[in-house]
Amino acid sequence: MKGCFITFEGPEGAGKSTQLRLLQDYINARGRECLITREPGGTPVAEQLRELIKHHNSEEPIFDESELFLLEAARAQHVHYLIEPAVKRGDVVLCDRFYDSTTAYQGYARGMDLEKLKLLNDFAVGTCKPTLTILLDLSPEEGFERTATREETQNIHDRFELENLEFHTAVRNGFLEIAKQEPERVKIVSAVGTPEEIHQKIVEFVKDVI
Ligand code: TMP
Repeated sequence: MKGCFITFEGPEGAGKSTQLRLLQDYINARGRECLITREPGGTPVAEQLRELIKHHNSEEPIFDESELFLLEAARAQHVHYLIEPAVKRGDVVLCDRFYDSTTAYQGYARGMDLEKLKLLNDFAVGTCKPTLTILLDLSPEEGFERTATREETQNIHDRFELENLEFHTAVRNGFLEIAKQEPERVKIVSAVGTPEEIHQKIVEFVKDVI
């Protein structure tokens, strides 16, 4: 059986984790091995970088360029150690965020050069690119409201959640622009609705690739 790599993108609060789990159950029920992983992170080394990227909090700031290289280092580690071998074994890999997050957050929101980001993303992943990307779309206002009331993140917001509405609006527009440029790969699914309704919409796209 052919392996398959599917990524999920979207803002905090879009319900990616819930949808990843529902999709994993759906894929397992069809007799396929399916693993869930995430970026930044997914391997022990990359998880250490994740901690630094998300929660670094000292007098010495992390500069945009440094943040970018930390993300790409975590990504290269993740791809070579976990994602590529799993896909080669024939498994389905579901990843919570991947390089479109770099384009949206570091590119569209932080304002880094999109061409340079593409070169670095390509360098980090080699030939290991997602077959399908589900973009769970949500307004930043709604995203803020959902993360503010989410129990596990109350009072512990990471460096990205602390950014303002303008930043998160740029992230959303960035994701929508990526979807416009790569409509074959990136499918937009509204994050408004019950988890089951959203899951059904996602399954319609996933059915075609697994
Ligand atoms: P999350 O796992 O809770 O979504 O947190 C990851 C954060 O890292 C999220 O706010 C988006 C950010 N991020 C980037 O800025 N660039 C990237 O390339 C990735 C993968 C994540």
